[in-house]
Amino acid sequence: MDKKIIEVKDITKIYKIGDVQVRALRGINLTIHQGEYISIMGPSGSGKSTLMNILGCLDTPTSGTYYLEETNVEKLNDNKLAEIRNKKIGFVFQTFNLLSRSNIINNVELPLIYSSKNNTKDRRLRIMDSLRAVNLTGWEKHKPSELSGGQRQRVAIARALINDPAIILADEPTGNLDSVTGEEIMAIFQKLNQEGRTILIVTHELDIAMHTNKIIYVRDGLIFKEEKVENPIDAFKKLAEMPRLEDRLN
Ligand SMILES: Nc1ncnc2c1ncn2[C@@H]1O[C@H](COP(=O)(O)OP(=O)(O)OP(=O)(O)O)[C@@H](O)[C@H]1O
Ligand SMILES: [Mg+2]
Repeated sequence: MDKKIIEVKDITKIYKIGDVQVRALRGINLTIHQGEYISIMGPSGSGKSTLMNILGCLDTPTSGTYYLEETNVEKLNDNKLAEIRNKKIGFVFQTFNLLSRSNIINNVELPLIYSSKNNTKDRRLRIMDSLRAVNLTGWEKHKPSELSGGQRQRVAIARALINDPAIILADEPTGNLDSVTGEEIMAIFQKLNQEGRTILIVTHELDIAMHTNKIIYVRDGLIFKEEKVENPIDAFKKLAEMPRLEDRLN
């Protein structure tokens, strides 16, 4: 079997608001191997984002254990958590979360600023590689406001790739996009997965989940079903059947 990227055992998360406790996660067990392409589905409030935030080292669980590659994450302090997050996690959000005043280059290179290992030339190469991976070569100097929603999300994916992360975590990456543009984003994820990237997507739409190889169903803070997708949707095929493809690729 492939290398384990993520292993969580009995993860719980309790939010305290005044005297009220919200049990957002009630004992999640999950293992993700290198090269997997997985989606998480579940009703609103079932704990999907809470789980993603913990897996992405943006938040810590109330109890349980979490190994990200060989690191025991739940024991780390905030600084170490930030470091591992920057190095090992690539995030993609529903609302893109780009810096509106910065051009595409500066947005994509943001995670490199914290790792500061590369010289300027290496950085440039990495940025260009990331932009090429999402079909955005030539858009370097533009600002996010000059781009379409789909292009903005592709910038976010390029930013997620820049540190060569162990896993890409995407929370409703197609939630703000029309169906053709969403399909383009799924084509990018599909290609990245075929190149060996490990990807986890949260979605409300079964159509989107059916592109991945496995669907994990979450309800009331628990995983209640895991399902292999026998014939995942091929985003490139589907795109070819959708209207106005040629107008939309760059
Ligand atoms: N920061 C927070 N403080 C308090 N309660 C929270 C917080 N974040 C989430 N919750 C609560 O935890 C539960 C799970 O929320 P979460 O955002 O993980 O759900 P979700 O599955 O992502 O929902 P959606 O599909 O609407 O995005 C909900 O009851 C929510 O109200
Ligand atoms: Mg959510």
